[in-house]
Amino acid sequence: MTERAGLTRRGYARALVAAGGIGALSACLDEFGEREIPGGIEEGEELPERQHAWNAVCEADEDGNVRSPRHHVLLSLALDRDGEPTDEDRALLEGALETLERAYEWSTDGLLFTVGLSPSYFERFGSEPAGVELPHPTALTDFEEPDFDEADLLLHLASDHEQAVLEAESALVEGHDEVNGVTVERGLEEGFSLEFRRSGFVGEGLPAEKQDDDVRGIPSSDPIPEEAPFFMGFRSGFRESQATEDRVTIEGGPFAGGTTEHLSSMTIQLDVWYEQDTHAQRVAKLFSAEHAREDVVGEYGESLSDSSGLTEERIEATAADARTEGVVGHAQKAARAREDGEPLLLRRDFNTVDGGRPGLHFLCLQREIEEFVRVREAMTGADLAGNGVGQTLNNGILQYLFVNRRGNFLLPPRSLRALPTPDGEW
Ligand code: HEM
Repeated sequence: MTERAGLTRRGYARALVAAGGIGALSACLDEFGEREIPGGIEEGEELPERQHAWNAVCEADEDGNVRSPRHHVLLSLALDRDGEPTDEDRALLEGALETLERAYEWSTDGLLFTVGLSPSYFERFGSEPAGVELPHPTALTDFEEPDFDEADLLLHLASDHEQAVLEAESALVEGHDEVNGVTVERGLEEGFSLEFRRSGFVGEGLPAEKQDDDVRGIPSSDPIPEEAPFFMGFRSGFRESQATEDRVTIEGGPFAGGTTEHLSSMTIQLDVWYEQDTHAQRVAKLFSAEHAREDVVGEYGESLSDSSGLTEERIEATAADARTEGVVGHAQKAARAREDGEPLLLRRDFNTVDGGRPGLHFLCLQREIEEFVRVREAMTGADLAGNGVGQTLNNGILQYLFVNRRGNFLLPPRSLRALPTPDGEW
């Protein structure tokens, strides 16, 4: 079991979510006592039809940027039955999800969650979801050989409280019979198998927390600023560089009100990032050379407010910067994919220590998976390689990222989330 020794409350909470399971839940309750978590909806009340309607119930930071929930669990589930799901499978899944909705307030103080369906799920019916392009995941760069997440479902659980994500997970897949005072009639283990679980965290203090001994690749010199929400040491997710929930919502067809989700799980070479580069180089590689020269970012992004500070001029100058500066910024490059000045992706990514290495679960929402592919192409910047920067060297942060897995999912509207047909019926 995860040892508390040497860890602060925050560090231990993070380690418990990484461990997962009923053991971690009872250690959490023993150590911190049972936290009072607000309850969910009553009979007759309804939650938003968009499963991804999180922003209105997430806190904002002092600059009005949406602050992500601190703890995250991803559960990849396969339906045990071959072929098309039955009404009984649907009732099992829907019943479990409704239990969570009754148990927890739909907020970061309670629990937020989404259910995604993979392209393999729709293959059970022999046709694609109507009105939505949902391709199987593929490798997206010349320098990755990822495995693919192809199980039927991906559940994403998120909360500011470790107790909520651990308890919800235990109720869904481990036979725990109560969630936040609400009885769990049936767990998903009756009809689904857990293919894998992953976990993560985001928010001030968590990345800088002293590491468990079994996490390799984090420099021992404590270089991660205390306030940084992400391992690479800077704030991210500024309002102006995030798509709105409207922008990522599917507008027509039976899945209108839903969205698509891409998940890339990657390892980050943090020791090289912190030991090889100076702070100014890190700013240049993440934002732009101009950001570094004019010192507009601050130690961890505190000097920026609701925007990454990228002007249109700087975004357009990406290729010129590669030639004249010998370095381009990750955000600068990725922003080239904006349409009419608007970002296409709503990023809800979080740090992880899954596999005993620092990494990132890059989870993002967009109207179409093809939009993700386009933004990723802009981020990869193959057009820049050989024109002032390398394929990965000085080409944003590519040198430090190793993509291990990719998955694509449809997040149907809430009323169709439990195993819909490709025509959006139950
Ligand atoms: C460890 C990995 C990553 C780190 C540390 C990171 C960090 C950042 C930072 C600091 C920004 C600028 C702040 C902001 O605009 O919110 C940014 C922007 C962005 N990143 Fe990343 N990022 C990572 C991976 C990715 C990946 C895999 C993608 C996939 C395409 C991506 C896409 C974007 C986009 C689309 C923007 C906004 C561009 C715009 O303003 O239009 N990032 N990222």
